[in-house]
Amino acid sequence: MTHKDFIEIHDYSADEVREIFEIARDMKASPEKYREALKGQTLAMIFEKSSTRTRVSFEVGMYQLGGHALFLSSRDIQLGRGEPIYDTAKVLSRYVNGIMARTFAHKTVTELAEYASVPVINGLTDLSHPTQAMTDYFTAWEHLGDLKGRKLAYVGDGNNMAHSLMFGAPKVGMHIAVATPGGYAPDPFVVATAQADADQAGTKVIVTTSIEEAVRDADVVTTDVWASMGQEAEAQKRQRDFEGWQVDTRVMSFARKEAIFMHCLPAHRGEEVAGEVIDSPRSVIYDEAENRLHVQKAIMYMLMKR
Ligand code: CP
Ligand code: NVA
Repeated sequence: MTHKDFIEIHDYSADEVREIFEIARDMKASPEKYREALKGQTLAMIFEKSSTRTRVSFEVGMYQLGGHALFLSSRDIQLGRGEPIYDTAKVLSRYVNGIMARTFAHKTVTELAEYASVPVINGLTDLSHPTQAMTDYFTAWEHLGDLKGRKLAYVGDGNNMAHSLMFGAPKVGMHIAVATPGGYAPDPFVVATAQADADQAGTKVIVTTSIEEAVRDADVVTTDVWASMGQEAEAQKRQRDFEGWQVDTRVMSFARKEAIFMHCLPAHRGEEVAGEVIDSPRSVIYDEAENRLHVQKAIMYMLMKR
């Protein structure tokens, strides 16, 4: 694999995604084999937004690979006071072996990647959350086996999670259906890109305002918060606009009997998902959270190993 960065799943081929999954599976089964894989290496982790899973799984992941991670809140580093991304990228590249960044503007991550001489990993932006979507498909693969021809349904806001799942589906051979209320559809550029990838892969991309159409015969049902980080001021309006959009047992009944439920977390029970679904045996949310560790270790290994 010849990539410098991990910015979007779209940048990776189906074979490369598969290779990352194989490494992640091996790391999960035999972590001791990789104890020195990134020995002495450091990952800088820039956070403009809160995080539990991303922060902990990247930091623990680096430790388990023999390296270590630095937590850099944008409130504390000069980037947050207006130091150019350009200089931040060049300076960090003199100290560390990789950069992971969670930012508001997607451009912040792409600029970091452009100017850093070390690998840059997208740890969530307003546009996408690729390490989470990779993990979701890896988790589906663990639970369902071969994903070719299977269907994933995403119900809710056409946000960063919806986008990354759309970029990822054609790479794993899955059909994807995204149902959102009117006015909350995914970014047209993402839809067009995913559609082009799907045409090549022979998979389908469905964007609809019908929950039933999206979830019908799905093997995986997933959702995400109605108000993402940075949209706090819109939270009340969104609560009203998303009325009737909760994933509950009625919604799950449209899916296949053995369908699994996923959520990237954090979740709001009683809003985008009912407790009866997220806390049911169909829910694989904690496997999903755990797998962030294994999949991201595989991504870091692939980008940073010498
Ligand atoms: N799913 C996810 O990225 O969680 P955090 O915001 O806790 O990192
Ligand atoms: N869409 C959510 C995902 C959180 C992991 C957000 O951006 O806040």
